[in-house]
Amino acid sequence: MLLDNLTETVSFIRSQSQVKPKIGIILGSGLGSFVQHVQVDAQIPFHKIPHFVSTSVEGHQGNLILGTLGKHSIVILQGRLHYYEGHSMDTVVYPTRTMAMLGIETLILTNSAGGFGETMQAGDFMIIEDHINLMGINPLMGPNLKQLGPRFPDMTEAYDKKLIEFMESSFNEMNLRYHKGIYCGVTGPTYETPAEVRYLKTIGGKAVGMSTVPESIAANHLGLRVAALSCITNLAAGFSRNKLSHQEVTDTAKKVETQFIDFLKSLLSKID
Ligand code: HPA
Repeated sequence: MLLDNLTETVSFIRSQSQVKPKIGIILGSGLGSFVQHVQVDAQIPFHKIPHFVSTSVEGHQGNLILGTLGKHSIVILQGRLHYYEGHSMDTVVYPTRTMAMLGIETLILTNSAGGFGETMQAGDFMIIEDHINLMGINPLMGPNLKQLGPRFPDMTEAYDKKLIEFMESSFNEMNLRYHKGIYCGVTGPTYETPAEVRYLKTIGGKAVGMSTVPESIAANHLGLRVAALSCITNLAAGFSRNKLSHQEVTDTAKKVETQFIDFLKSLLSKID
């Protein structure tokens, strides 16, 4: 059933564009304008794609884009699905699986996150070295489809070391401060309590967000190389004087948009 749906989705997308992507990028809240820097061959709204579901989150456009940037053929999800929207985990990771079936080998995940690492400030970037899944669910629960991947996928190197090195080089070349750390994935949609953030710090996290972990797990299952970057749009609850709001998240993402775009371009230029 899932495989039949994926086959149908992929043949529809292939009917819209000749681009054969090798790299996939998922753009988080407020980071969608990267697309303006891509030679777009096809831009398809999620609702036109068979078996895709539309995203309901403000700041998430909901398009699948095929195009080229420099030497690379890429597929971009401008907007993503979140578990807190009420979707099943199968639905949340369906676009990731679609990108894998389209032929990508590398997946770049981006998100907005609340930061609580030492010296973190709103507007900073954090390279995700590893994650802690605190969503209370795993997208691979249920029968395993061995055509997608193994029953018990290894997650020792969920975030590819070479891609982490490339990201560090890009930040260094751009003279941009960055952090590296563990991303804690929670369901939301509430932001955390200060006590929860203190707990996340105790267990080794530096940032918290409501996405990325499901896609990363599904991508590792599929054997993709994964890189992930958080835009620290706010200091997490208890670390900030302000009350948290989605407005602050999208405003900060907007402010660092140019840096984010330059970073992604630089990173792509380093990938073979
Ligand atoms: N917590 C959880 N998710 C987030 C945050 C946060 O502080 N900021 C952006 N996404």
